[in-house]
Amino acid sequence: MKPVFVLNGPNLNLLGLREPAVYGSATLKDVEARCRAHAATLGLSIDFRQSNNEGELVGWIHEARDRASGIAINAGAYTHTSVALHDALKAADLPSVEVHLSNVHKREAFRHHSYMAPAVNGVICGFGPESYVLALTALHSLLTAHKKG
Ligand code: DQA
Repeated sequence: MKPVFVLNGPNLNLLGLREPAVYGSATLKDVEARCRAHAATLGLSIDFRQSNNEGELVGWIHEARDRASGIAINAGAYTHTSVALHDALKAADLPSVEVHLSNVHKREAFRHHSYMAPAVNGVICGFGPESYVLALTALHSLLTAHKKG
């Protein structure tokens, strides 16, 4: 099976250093290791990437159209601003899950709206690095359902 793309947006490279009271002490490398270990138990392979550049993220979603079986995306702040990422996810037309470490609904009002949510199958937020693990489980279920369907 093609890999699942796990895409991370701006500032997530600073995980572990950035606002630890909100995002915790795990680094993005730690999150990646956790994703790899969990993906292996599900029989999935993952392609884990991070970019601070909106256009690069759009390009990776285009790439996913042909090269990925599904997408888990933590678009960071672009979640709340990017029509371009929304459109790219719609165009990719793959099983996809929006992920956040923090519970965005408990935070500032500007984080309550997501341009990703209407373009994905579902949203997981608020569980720290575990959100990614849950997203991979959800994608695995979607991919298994796809195969049956
Ligand atoms: C985030 C939540 C966003 O609102 C924020 O801009 C981020 C991280 C999260 O994972 O909790 O950069 O996506």
